[in-house]
Amino acid sequence: MYPFNCYSLAHSCFRSLVLILSGVVGWEAAARADAAVSPQPVQLTIHADRPVGKVSPTLYGLMTEEINFSYEGGLYGELVRNRSFKASHSEPKYWQPVGNASLTLDTNAPLNGALNVSLKLVAEQAGDGVANPGYWGIPVHPHKHYHASLYAKTDGNFHGTLTVAIVNTNTGKVLAREKITGIGSEWHPYELVLTTSYWIDSSKSNCLTLTLDGPGTVWLQQVSLFPPTYLGRTNGNRTDLMELQAAMRPAFLRLPGGNYLEGDTFAERFNWKNTIGPVEQRPGHRSPWNYWSTDGLGLLEYLEWCEDLHMEPLLAVFAGYTLKHDHVDAGPALQPYVQEALDEIEYVTGDASTVWGARRVADGHPAPFPLHYIEIGNEDTFDRSGSYDGRFAQFYDAIKAKYPQLQLIATAKVKKRTPDLLDEHFYRTEEEMEAHAHDYDAYARTNHTKIFVGEWATRVGAPTPNMAGALGDAAWMTGMERNSDLVLISSYAPMFVNVSESSGPDRSIQWKSDLIGYDALTSYGSPSYYAQQMFSTHHGDTILRTEDANIPTYTWQPPAKKEKKDKTEKTGKLPPKQKVPSVFYDATRDSTTGMIILKVVNAQVITQTVNITLTGVSKVGSWGHLTVLRAGSRDETNALNDPKKIVPESRTLHGLGPEFTTELPPLSISIFEVKAK
Ligand code: AHR
Repeated sequence: MYPFNCYSLAHSCFRSLVLILSGVVGWEAAARADAAVSPQPVQLTIHADRPVGKVSPTLYGLMTEEINFSYEGGLYGELVRNRSFKASHSEPKYWQPVGNASLTLDTNAPLNGALNVSLKLVAEQAGDGVANPGYWGIPVHPHKHYHASLYAKTDGNFHGTLTVAIVNTNTGKVLAREKITGIGSEWHPYELVLTTSYWIDSSKSNCLTLTLDGPGTVWLQQVSLFPPTYLGRTNGNRTDLMELQAAMRPAFLRLPGGNYLEGDTFAERFNWKNTIGPVEQRPGHRSPWNYWSTDGLGLLEYLEWCEDLHMEPLLAVFAGYTLKHDHVDAGPALQPYVQEALDEIEYVTGDASTVWGARRVADGHPAPFPLHYIEIGNEDTFDRSGSYDGRFAQFYDAIKAKYPQLQLIATAKVKKRTPDLLDEHFYRTEEEMEAHAHDYDAYARTNHTKIFVGEWATRVGAPTPNMAGALGDAAWMTGMERNSDLVLISSYAPMFVNVSESSGPDRSIQWKSDLIGYDALTSYGSPSYYAQQMFSTHHGDTILRTEDANIPTYTWQPPAKKEKKDKTEKTGKLPPKQKVPSVFYDATRDSTTGMIILKVVNAQVITQTVNITLTGVSKVGSWGHLTVLRAGSRDETNALNDPKKIVPESRTLHGLGPEFTTELPPLSISIFEVKAK
């Protein structure tokens, strides 16, 4: 059987890593101990009658890619790891023999051209079979129905029973079991419902076993086990992770974002046509984050994910450049990829009279999906060949000619065409985020091109950000929201991380500091998650003019830039020190209700008094609402074993008027909602 004990070893190693990393963060926090102690109250004046722009209704969205086991072993409901046996060419990885069974990969008995290998299971005696440990365990809850499915065939000599069971790996206890009989010598699909009893505990130390009741040879393919999914969708998503996203009320999903769109090579790009149709017809591909994707969560599943959370897809199309710097120049060689993108847009938006719209209808979704934004490529600033300008122009012309209403996003600066939006990415420390929180205030408003902050994060804390991360994020979000006439859309990245295994070639974490963490059984939002949830669910539609005085600052030494000389990396000179604010704010108004929403971030370790003045209002309600996220130190965080340590708290505020004074707790993010006419 699979050595399940190594999970707990890996888990404790992982906890140690987190502790070490938190120590590092603690050192960073100490480095800014000269944060100003401001005895003076901050003065904030909000001019309720002086709108300076509209808050973009699509400002807060989500970005997704297959990284950190975001889908496989994450959002995608599938519980069986390597269900199609394609994760390795040389062995049936993640499958273990039960008893004396022999397991081999067999390319001579394929299910079809897409799943062109199968597992040959030879049992010597009754009870022999195969076990799958899932993605760091198979989660099981009391009285739930688990949908198992598989393809099987025999060599014609086995006439017995194949038992499919969920087995606890600590106790050996069978938690649910069903049998298949009459397996013939041709491939045949089987479906079973495995039901757990009321009396079991929720656990993840389980595996799926398939055992024979006597000697024999069986071939298996597409061995699958699904728990109940969000909204009960077939081939659907994990409920807790969908609920965490739903609570953010995101406006859009950038799909698929990041390096996953590009792939390491052309063959490993997100080739959307290979991700639609029956799941057993999808070949799957390697993610650039170094593990196998079955593409069970394919293009239609992305779109249904959007539908379920009432968000719009923001479609990223492959633009002829791969992560390992291969590219095709603009011209005839690029045309197939341009056509691929046009077909993809048609699949999303076309009706049944179009080729690809009809294909979507045949795939089970008659209604077209709403679509406004198309992103052409990902991080093409890394394409040193200079080909992006031409590639973007070719995509731009073809898409605008057919779909003039679509807004096109460039991922690097271009000259030949004017993109509707430019995607900018920022991965920073807390201090960097704070130092740059006012950058967009100074951006020229005369350009046609608006901004999409398509990836951003304060990367402090691992595997999910701590309170320092949330403070940097909140400071940054005040800047985006205050400038959301320019910054129309934004999405944090990465969104998901399976925290089960932090090191080694099979680690589940490829990227530290991710918004939402989970293992097979449970999940949690980081402090950054809650900061973002607060921002995205509390804002008006109008940006208000504001003024301030006495904003405290601290002195920050930006790190030296790394310079590459003769292929060796050297640390350059230290840049000059900077004065960085440590209180951040922005104000918006809901024009329907008159509510003024003021967000204030106090990144200091001391309480900050703030005097707030509202002008341009005839009446201010005497009570309002306050929502606060706070922590005792920058290092404090949420984790699987302490998922709600830092969560927002709300209370009613009394004694409000056109002028009022409030105290911001140390290390806090506060949202004031004040009713005014
Ligand atoms: O978010 C992680 C990665 O960072 C994305 O895949 C890529 O676009 C960026 O470099």
